[in-house]
Amino acid sequence: MAENIRVLLTEEEVDARIQAIGDQISKDYAGKQVHLVCVLKGGSFFLCELAKRIKVPVSLDFMSVSSYGSDTKSSGVVKIVKDLDDSIKDKDVIVVEDIVDSGRTLSYLLEMLRDRGPKSLRLCTLLDKPDRRVIDVNVDYTGFQIPDEFVVGYGLDYDQRYRNLPYIGVVEFE
Ligand code: IMP
Ligand code: MG
Repeated sequence: MAENIRVLLTEEEVDARIQAIGDQISKDYAGKQVHLVCVLKGGSFFLCELAKRIKVPVSLDFMSVSSYGSDTKSSGVVKIVKDLDDSIKDKDVIVVEDIVDSGRTLSYLLEMLRDRGPKSLRLCTLLDKPDRRVIDVNVDYTGFQIPDEFVVGYGLDYDQRYRNLPYIGVVEFE
């Protein structure tokens, strides 16, 4: 099926918003070290851009969970594909995600991470689709709230493509 990509958020808009979140995190964590946990693969582009703009000491770790197939619809199944390398015990952790949609992935993930005893645990997402929420998730830092449309770019994929787009676009099926 052929598809078109319509620009929803330009590269400039996304960059400016990430700078603002970086400034906010630098302020909120002044005097501390922040441990960023990136949810692969979608969160990776956002993580890099965000980490560059944080002025307090930063450490990074990565994990991979799957909740979607090659479809645009949630399967409701959350599976840990790759766990973190390091313990998060007593660390100030921020989970960095590409998008919160139904909230299934994040509610599961945050509960699991909370059990590991971090000093603090917050969630930072580039995009939020509040209209799609099935499970309540507390988001501490949000880039943009967007309407219920399937988006790609800046790490987000459609069937593993378009992650490399430097902007956020809506997939329009013909
Ligand atoms: P949730 O568990 O429904 O909140 O799903 C979160 C995950 O679904 C995200 O981390 C993405 O990988 C994927 N996802 C949800 N909406 C979109 C979208 O619009 N475009 C691309 N991936 C999406
Ligand atoms: Mg994701």
